[in-house]
Amino acid sequence: MTQQVYYSLQDRRQLPAGLEWLTAAERAHLDGFRFDKRRRDWLLGRWTAKQAVMTVAALSNPSRVEVATANDGAPLPRLDDRPFGAVMSLSHSNDRAFCAVAFGRTELGCDIELVESRGRAFVETYFTDAESRQIIDADQHDRDLLTTTIWSAKESVLKALRIGLGADTRSVEIIPDERFAKHGNQQSATWQAGRAAVRNAGEFGCWWRRDGDFVLSIAARAPLPAPMPVGSETLAA
Ligand SMILES: CC(C)(COP(=O)(O)OP(=O)(O)OC[C@H]1O[C@@H](n2cnc3c(N)ncnc32)[C@H](O)[C@@H]1OP(=O)(O)O)[C@@H](O)C(=O)NCCC(=O)NCCS
Repeated sequence: MTQQVYYSLQDRRQLPAGLEWLTAAERAHLDGFRFDKRRRDWLLGRWTAKQAVMTVAALSNPSRVEVATANDGAPLPRLDDRPFGAVMSLSHSNDRAFCAVAFGRTELGCDIELVESRGRAFVETYFTDAESRQIIDADQHDRDLLTTTIWSAKESVLKALRIGLGADTRSVEIIPDERFAKHGNQQSATWQAGRAAVRNAGEFGCWWRRDGDFVLSIAARAPLPAPMPVGSETLAA
């Protein structure tokens, strides 16, 4: 059976005012944060992750779901105090959070990034030569979107590998299809497929799309159909 990735996207206004939807362990984790921004990002991420799990498992009570934290920082979904049989990835940016979930054991990563100008030095430092060439060859007005998309997809792959930005970002090469590289702005509101080649770690399938001022990306080891939003229907686990 083809594996499906589901995703949830939430912004600050959707976060409940109270904290009753957190488990006791989550509340203790929240109390450990020293900085307000980190606290807010973490809360919105947990809320977004719970929306995803609740929909795919057809649940209505968010406190049955716990999103614990693995030793390496990755999110670990639990249901009724037991591991929930799904992989999850989480990201937050500028009062938005994005969560991808898939059943089974595939390696999965997701990322949300604000589209902004990152400049030549950024590209030369973090991108491979082939990625840099794509930026240079792109139409001027598409460069920020393309740079953000490649960066976001790299983060997704590095999260799927569970190593994050501690790794050399040039060990992951993002390969968008040629049409996207040339005309990114025109069709980017729908999910577009690409792939990533990772030094000594094979290939990943990638999906990305623009959402207003943001880019969303998802990377998974298996080639997957386009991600599906949760909330559009109830998906029995
Ligand atoms: C994982 C990482 C890429 C996140 O990037 P970011 O742009 O800061 O933040 P994002 O909002 O996109 O993602 C954060 C989420 O990634 C997830 N995450 C953290 N570490 C992870 C890892 N090793 N693997 C997979 N996912 C991870 C968490 O869910 C985290 O959100 P949470 O803490 O609220 O649960 C980055 O924090 C990282 O590289 N961490 C590991 C290496 C490290 O700490 N290096 C020190 C600095 S170089």
